[in-house]
Amino acid sequence: MQSGVLHKQVDSVVQPRWRRILVRSFAFGALSTTIALPASAQEIPQYGRDRHLGVRECAGGPCHGSATPVGERVKENEHTIWLRRDRHAQAYKTLLTDRSKSIARNYGLKKPAEQSDECLDCHSNNAVNRVEDFRLEDGVGCEACHGGSERWLKTHTSSTRTHQQNLDDGLYPTDDPVRRAELCLSCHLGDEKKFVRHRMLGAGHPRLRFELDSYQVTQPAHFTVDNDYLERGKVATEPVKLWAIGQAVQVRELLEALGDPKRNQDGIWPEFAVLDCYTCHHSMEETRRPSGRGRGLGTDPGTPRLNDSGFLMLRHILVGVDKSATPELRAGILKIHAAVSKSQGNRANVAKSLERFVDLQIPKIVTWNPEADPIRDIAVSLIEEGLAQQYNDYPSAEQAAVAIQSLADTLNGIRPFSDARLRRLNSCIDALLRATQEDDGFQRRSSQFVRALGCARSELIGSGGVGE
Ligand code: HEC
Ligand code: HEC
Ligand code: HEC
Ligand code: HEC
Repeated sequence: MQSGVLHKQVDSVVQPRWRRILVRSFAFGALSTTIALPASAQEIPQYGRDRHLGVRECAGGPCHGSATPVGERVKENEHTIWLRRDRHAQAYKTLLTDRSKSIARNYGLKKPAEQSDECLDCHSNNAVNRVEDFRLEDGVGCEACHGGSERWLKTHTSSTRTHQQNLDDGLYPTDDPVRRAELCLSCHLGDEKKFVRHRMLGAGHPRLRFELDSYQVTQPAHFTVDNDYLERGKVATEPVKLWAIGQAVQVRELLEALGDPKRNQDGIWPEFAVLDCYTCHHSMEETRRPSGRGRGLGTDPGTPRLNDSGFLMLRHILVGVDKSATPELRAGILKIHAAVSKSQGNRANVAKSLERFVDLQIPKIVTWNPEADPIRDIAVSLIEEGLAQQYNDYPSAEQAAVAIQSLADTLNGIRPFSDARLRRLNSCIDALLRATQEDDGFQRRSSQFVRALGCARSELIGSGGVGE
């Protein structure tokens, strides 16, 4: 490989943590499918007005600090899981590493990373309202997700209080899948107040990427959806819906970022961080294949392109949720590509109107009842496109791989596969994840990826036509 800057590997994105195991014990067939959407979005905990008291308030033995799951209802080992296995507990410590020091230096921070809001906003619970001796060192702690506990800490354990009453007292609705997606994405994509712009990536920050269902599993989740969970009035969501909602919210937030002047202030529109990194960062010897998606989208070689992996996923999702909405999305995607890559149209309006459209699809996904057939339709649509070599761009391949996990997972929950088939399916998925594990050189491995897609297709859909 040549040594020019744009030929460098963007970042070593070897992430075994993206992986997960397919089989899960809970049968999703039994879930209720009607979810009432709250009238207005609740504020992300960090910005909420309730005071944050700190992780130590939750860590006690009889509360959430048990070493093993002992509680009959809530398992009481949440703090232990978080502290021992969850990267969020280490997020502040990351700011003390040499890598962070170097990012801070390159980015030109005035203060060390661990004292800069630019980093603390995501790597800790930098709550606007917090007790005086609040420990930022605890990283992304309980209240960063569950909300400042000032009003609910004392009462939330009472068996006479309902989940709704706790929410009214400021507990963040983490069980609501849309609110959950908004919460995670506020740090994993950024929001109007905190954002990893291309300048920070250039300074050495790793590329951000997100997929709600996989990230929840790899975090790992410190809750168990069982009958008791449902009886307490909490919402449970099948993997495929979590995936679909996560994609839709991500697309909406990306469009929001496109239209936000604060996140587009480095002189070029749009901010490079929302683009597909690999349209710029690749070796000149590694030309994009003419059969790639670039053609149909009107984004010719030589033009940077929006990271549209989420849009692509949403298109497949709508095939299962509401097929009649797919032409409008397709038209919207073409327009936003023309706006970004060719400066066509009133760019802010194009982004806004697509954002509105996507926002209207979210309640449809929330109330969607994912049955085997529509899930298979989505899987076919996604895999066929991949087999037609349309995922030559790394972000789409990466997202397609984890999407197939969620689809398979939910299908298995509805009608369990035989052990032998599950084993084969897991090995196809493993191959998909292996092929997409590293961004660098993905073009060279795309045939591996397509083979693994064919393998997943035979096992999932059973057509048998395409395989190893
Ligand atoms: C306050 C910001 C914040 C919120 C909210 C947040 N995260 Fe994170 N998350 C981070 C940071 C920062 C890291 C990186 C920690 C490190 O390694 O230093 C991270 C890391 C992770 C990782 C590990 C990624 C890897 O490469 O292994 C997973 C998984 C994850 N988050 C899932 C989630 C999920 C799921 C949600 C929503 C329920 C969520 N996060 C909400 C900030 C946040
Ligand atoms: C918008 C939120 C956000 C901001 C702002 C942010 N980060 Fe991060 N950072 C993340 C997330 C999320 C991850 C984990 C990415 C993943 O693995 O998916 C991460 C990962 C990292 C990692 C790699 C950690 C690992 O375990 O490999 C370093 C180092 C880092 N951030 C340093 C910084 C520094 C230094 C700053 C300030 C200059 C900063 N970050 C600002 C969200 C943010
Ligand atoms: C990155 C976000 C995040 C962080 C940090 C986090 N949680 Fe959670 N937590 C969730 C999500 C998402 C759920 C699942 C939805 C729900 O049940 O509300 C959850 C669920 C729970 C539950 C409900 C279990 C049940 O059976 O009802 C408890 C208790 C809990 N968390 C405690 C904690 C404690 C204690 C900490 C800190 C040590 C913590 N959480 C940190 C996101 C987070
Ligand atoms: C529109 C083209 C374009 C896109 C899209 C783009 N970059 Fe860049 N990137 C550049 C340019 C130009 C530089 C600066 C090169 C220099 O400093 O000489 C750069 C520099 C970098 C550097 C520093 C490299 C070094 O050797 O110092 C990193 C890391 C980086 N980009 C990561 C990313 C990531 C991650 C993405 C996707 C989220 C991305 N870039 C998207 C054009 C782009």
